[in-house]
Order: sequence, then C-alpha cells, then structure tokens
Amino acid sequence: AIPLANVDAKSASRLSTADMPRPYLTALTRAPILQPNATGIDPVDGHPVQYYTVTQMAAVAAILPRLRTPILGYNGIFPGPTISVERGTKAVLRVRNQLPLRHPFGGHLLATSTHLHGSASLPQFDGYASDLTNRGFKKDYQYPNYQQARTLWYHDHSVHTTALNVYAGLAAQYHVHDPQERQLLPQGEFDVALTINDAMFAANGSLGYDHNSHSGLWGDVILVNGKPWPTMKVQRRVYRFRILNASISRSLRPTLSTGDPLIVVATDGGLMPVARSVSSYRHASAERYEVLIDFRKYTNGQRILLRNLSNDNNVAYANTDKIMAFDVVDTPVNTGDPTWNTIPTVLAGSEIMSLTTAQSTKTRRFRVKRNDRTNLWTIGEDTWQDVVASGFRKVVADPGLNAVEIWEFENSSDGWFHPIHMHLVDFQVLSRNGQAPFPYELGPKDTVYVGEREIVRVLVKFGPHRGKYIMHCHNLPHEDHDMMVQFSVGLADGEVDANDPITAAP
Ligand code: C2O
Repeated sequence: AIPLANVDAKSASRLSTADMPRPYLTALTRAPILQPNATGIDPVDGHPVQYYTVTQMAAVAAILPRLRTPILGYNGIFPGPTISVERGTKAVLRVRNQLPLRHPFGGHLLATSTHLHGSASLPQFDGYASDLTNRGFKKDYQYPNYQQARTLWYHDHSVHTTALNVYAGLAAQYHVHDPQERQLLPQGEFDVALTINDAMFAANGSLGYDHNSHSGLWGDVILVNGKPWPTMKVQRRVYRFRILNASISRSLRPTLSTGDPLIVVATDGGLMPVARSVSSYRHASAERYEVLIDFRKYTNGQRILLRNLSNDNNVAYANTDKIMAFDVVDTPVNTGDPTWNTIPTVLAGSEIMSLTTAQSTKTRRFRVKRNDRTNLWTIGEDTWQDVVASGFRKVVADPGLNAVEIWEFENSSDGWFHPIHMHLVDFQVLSRNGQAPFPYELGPKDTVYVGEREIVRVLVKFGPHRGKYIMHCHNLPHEDHDMMVQFSVGLADGEVDANDPITAAP
C-alpha cells in the first residue's frame, strides 16, 4: 500500500499560506471551442471535412491567487481548446510541436504524440506512443468521427513522458454530436465540459511533480477547467456535465452535498442504454461520465457543492474532498428549450452494449501488477520495453477483425488500482469479481477501473480497423514505467500492416 505519511510529507504543495488557493473563490471558466481553419469535402467518400490546427507551446497560467504557473498547453491553455464535431464529419487535426527545448520538469525531450482517446482512429493517426513528432515539426491526424455521439479527449501520449506532459497541461476535450444526443440532452451553454485534475505547487507557483517512485502523483489542489475548486452560477433547470478526470493518477468519487442524485447518462463511448441515478460514482483517471444535475428545486442563492467522497487508495489532503460549487441564480429559464426539464430514462442502443457473451470466441486473462524485481508495472508479464525490444512486433493478443472476445483483467495486489484503457475499441463491462458491474458502468466504455484484488471482465469487439493498437494503465506514471503493451487486430502472425506508423517500410 501507499506509505501515506511519507507521501504527505514529501508531496503536498509548498506554497505559503497566502499563496495557497482556497475553495470556492474562483469562477469556473470554460475551454474555448476550437474553430476550424478550413472546411472541405473528402474526395474519396464525399464526407464533409473540417481542418483544425493546434499548437503545443509553453505558456503561463493564472491558477493561483498571486503567482503564475508555467504550463505546456495546446494553444498555450489548459485545458486545451475543445473540438466539437458532428458525427459523420471528418476532422483533420494539425498538431504543431512548438514546445521549448527543455521540459518544465527537467531535461526531457519534448517530442510528442497526440492520442484522441475514445476514437477508432487508423493506426497511423492513433497517437502510438513511439510515433513521435519532434519539436519544430507537425503532424496531421485524421479522425473519422463516425462513432455515436460521445465525449472524447485528446492528450499527449509520448513514450515515457506522457505523465509529465499531460500533467503539464497537454489535455483537452473533444465532443462528437449526433441528432439523437442533441434531442435528448442539454446543448450549448447548458452542456458543460468539466475537466478535473489534481496538482501540487512549488513555493514559486510552478507545478510540483512527484510520482512517488512511479506509483502515482497525488496533488493537494483540485482543479476544474484549470481553476482551483471553482464556483459556477446555475439557473434552475437541468444541466449536463461532461466530466473528464484528467488527473494523471487520482480517482474521484463525485457526490452532491444535498444528497440529490447524479443522473449518469453517458459513459466513455457515449449514451448509456438507460440513465442511472446514483448518489456517487467512482471516476478513474481518463474515464468520462456525462451526468445530469437537476437544479429546478433549489432556491435562488442556494449553494450546492460537488464533493469528492472517498480516497480509494488515493492520498487524501485537507481539501481533496472538494471539487466545485454551484450557485443557483434566478435568471429566467428558457422553457422553450425542451431539455430544460427533461430527465430522459431510455437513451440509446449501441452495438457494443447489445453484444452478448455467447458471441465471444475467446477468453483471455491479463494479470496487472508490479514486477518487484524490475520495479516496472506489467500487463501479463509484459512491458513497453518488451515491445521496443521486439522491434515493435510483440503483441499480447491477435484477435481477428471484428472478433468478439472476453478479456479479463486480474489485479491481485493490495493497495493499487489500475484504470486499464484499450485503444481503438469500445467494450462492455461484464462483471467485477463475478458480481454485476456498478450501475454507472453499464454503458459503452474504453477505460475500466481494476481495483485491488479484483477480476474485471469486459466484452470487446475488435475493429473496425486492422493494425496494432496499444493497451495500458491510465495511471500515467504506471504507463510510463512501463505498463503498456500492444495487441493486433486482423493481422496474420508477423504481418506488418501498411499503415503501421513504426514498422511499415517507408
Ligand atoms: Cu488516454 Cu492511450 O490514452
């Protein structure tokens, strides 16, 4: 287990009392929506295309009351600009690497790889960890956006420096809309992206970075959209929150101070089959949950807190039990918007949620654990070092294209949890230790919390693309040391896909 006392003494912010932010004093800000710099038509299939550009750069952020904080950001902001597209419209995202020579946390090289987490991207556009874009260069990533409406996020995925770069600020939301989702759920001003992460600060206001021997970073300041424990003014109506936990390690358990429910309507891969009301839910790093909160019954001037319940093996500090506050205002509600008072119950079907275990052709089990000899985190017995040593050929599984399989993640350790993320696919959570999954997990997922002494089973369909894709722990210090492997889809033994970003011949 985590040595709490040590971590406490070592890792909390070193800010003076005057510089330490206090909860509920800062207004929530929202990341801007990125405008396309051009639009066009795909000459091959006639689909509309939107062209976007973001620049990875160093910048200075206003997070603390009196000090400024150096960050890395897409367009120099954290969270980066939100990309919002319609299902069926392709996006081409040009990522320009204009990062400085030196990382704010030391002499790491600032070559990057950008992953759109939750997208079924072709392998060469998926942000493969070793597919690096150097400083001064750019890469155009193509995203098909044919998946059902969902909340995705794009973040750095550079091999061995993902934790540093995401923590420094290279993370942003990405939304796919579709007509069904537009009709059911609040839009625009009432569709609120919340990117939550924890941080710690040095006395001069710069971010502190301590991953406790690769076990995890536990900050003592909770940021929402880059502001410490902010407040948001809300009207007396239903709001939709797209909550992303962008913490590099910490998991959360959001709950409302009033005891009223959070109505979970979507998981990583979009709308759930039916909405689930919960008093709290566990939210691991990289998971996305969309929740409705019904503010209709509260009174003008009332403050409702979004709190963080238990620590689930995260290190707790004085204010890590707080997230943000909602202040109810009496601005007249537009009752012409039908989502203002609608709590939908039946949401949407999706292919992955309609599959059954009878369709599975294979069951595979992966142990997730630490190798005490090498001090590396492993999946099976493997690490990314093994993948590199094999010339990027070694795979832990090789399902056929469109194969349906059951994958089991077994975590027999005490004191450690692992949010396991598979690229390319959505999956259905089947069980935890033989019991039904939590109600809020009963939607399409791409990241699943595997708790200590748990066996979690998921049902996966492998496709729609052939190629090699990665799977890793989304506690990012674990991923970087070296809890990441790859699987192939639809490739014969030893076959190299022509689109492989690393091993295909030029
Ligand atoms: Cu969110 Cu492979 O990552």
